[in-house]
Amino acid sequence: MTVTVVVGGFYGDEGKGKIVSSLAQDRNYKISVRGGVGPNAGHTVIKDDQILKLRMLPSAAINPDIDLMIGAGVLINPDILLDEINRYDIKNRVLVDGHCAIITKDHIQKDSGEHFKSLIGTTGTGTGPANSDRVLRTGKLAKDVDVLHNVVGDVSSEVNGCIENNENVLVEGTQGTFLSLFYGEYPFVTSKDVSASAICSDVGIGPTKVDEVVVVFKSYVTRVGHGELKDELTFDESVSRGWNETGTVTGRQRRSAPFDFDLAKKAVNINGGTEIALTKLDLLFPESKGLRVYEELNQDAKSFIKKIEDSTGIPVKYIGTGPDLQDTIIRDT
Ligand code: IMP
Ligand code: MG
Repeated sequence: MTVTVVVGGFYGDEGKGKIVSSLAQDRNYKISVRGGVGPNAGHTVIKDDQILKLRMLPSAAINPDIDLMIGAGVLINPDILLDEINRYDIKNRVLVDGHCAIITKDHIQKDSGEHFKSLIGTTGTGTGPANSDRVLRTGKLAKDVDVLHNVVGDVSSEVNGCIENNENVLVEGTQGTFLSLFYGEYPFVTSKDVSASAICSDVGIGPTKVDEVVVVFKSYVTRVGHGELKDELTFDESVSRGWNETGTVTGRQRRSAPFDFDLAKKAVNINGGTEIALTKLDLLFPESKGLRVYEELNQDAKSFIKKIEDSTGIPVKYIGTGPDLQDTIIRDT
């Protein structure tokens, strides 16, 4: 029995969706359960000619044999959730905790105002105002929303039951460690903690149940919205390195910088990481594109990986070398 928690190590957009779906393909997970903030996240999952774009459901959706759940800590936008369930035709295996709080039009409206949009640079998806109402205890919960009636249940009990039955559970975090309300650069952060401990609390499992914490880093650092980014590249430099990404949720240009080894070490500490997944290695070392065997990587790529392991003290176990989920090296460490 294995409980695996996957979290982002930098500022979100590390490629967690790809790593999660690759794990979901490879391992025999019974349930994949999502923690994190809400539909401010955006994950793209690619397998062969199938592309899933997800903001509410777990990325393990790509594997038809896994039950998909959303933990009580997560905020639900019912329109976005139902659209994903219908689009990918997966209602038979979705369960949303009745205690998830609901994002309303009013929250979205507030999130487009001066404080949120202009000062912080939020995604505008209503998550900050919705969490604020939740703390004030004026919010609405999923169990009280008619259109969610068919998918609502007790996620924490399901997940703990699965663990008691010795089955494998995959716990998906969203955002990234330095967007945490506690550990990021306040106020340029999201509306709650998103470290591994918080993600476990979101889905209702205790720390003694966790076997593995996979911290996902991209081979360079990107950030959308405002706040510090050490050694940030100019736009032109970012384009010439092929690091100029645009956001899945907002379509905004992401800012970019080289891999930050000190920040990675800090992320591994905050999350209690046991192993690292490194994504987009092919954008740093183009010769690695599509490789699936560690030994075939060139010396520069191997040295880069070694430097990450030396500075964080944990192994780099998964390495992404292309967008398809099969483009992944899995090392026996
Ligand atoms: P909010 O979470 O929409 O309130 O936005 C707060 C900050 O977190 C902004 O800088 C957003 O760009 C950032 N953010 C929130 N969710 C994500 C994500 O999934 N990926 C990347 N950045 C995010
Ligand atoms: Mg994203």
